Amino acid sequence: MIRSAIVGGAALLLAAWLVGIVAAQTNSSEAHIPPKSVYAELAKVPAKAAGRHNPLEADPEAVAAGTKLFEQHCAECHGANAEGGKKGPSLRADEVQQATPGTLFWLLTNGVVRKGMPVWSRLPEPQRWQLVSYIKSLGNSQTPLKQ
Ligand code: HEC
Repeated sequence: MIRSAIVGGAALLLAAWLVGIVAAQTNSSEAHIPPKSVYAELAKVPAKAAGRHNPLEADPEAVAAGTKLFEQHCAECHGANAEGGKKGPSLRADEVQQATPGTLFWLLTNGVVRKGMPVWSRLPEPQRWQLVSYIKSLGNSQTPLKQ
């Protein structure tokens, strides 16, 4: 009697655990980024932050300024053309290109320090938006590759 109650309880726990795993996987697949991907952090950005618009979106200078900032601060890890390097992943990947400007801004502001992506909150906000403009411009085939 007692034994069957214990076995029954254990089975119930196991079932709850399995349901939990399935639920967790369903959630992350909604964001279209596999949970183990190097880009998984993009899916964790709070919705309010992700919805912010780039105030410099229409500024023709923003991409050029962002390109310079990228060379200074980011190229050593992400590569001269953001194609990815030894220390950082490509920012030309679909996951990054499809992320909202607000998502990228939040990520720059907060970093992913435990995974090697520094915090950039010491750069003034307009400079962080210029970097977002630069990253977004990479999805545009007009942007030439540097040699
Ligand atoms: C010291 C190396 C390093 C530098 C410098 C660096 N990054 Fe990163 N970056 C990383 C690493 C490592 C990751 C992957 C983090 C992860 O696993 O989530 C990353 C991820 C990212 C991502 C994708 C989001 C993610 O976490 O998956 C973006 C966008 C990004 N970096 C932009 C930048 C920009 C813009 C700069 C310059 C202001 C910069 N990074 C500077 C190492 C670096």
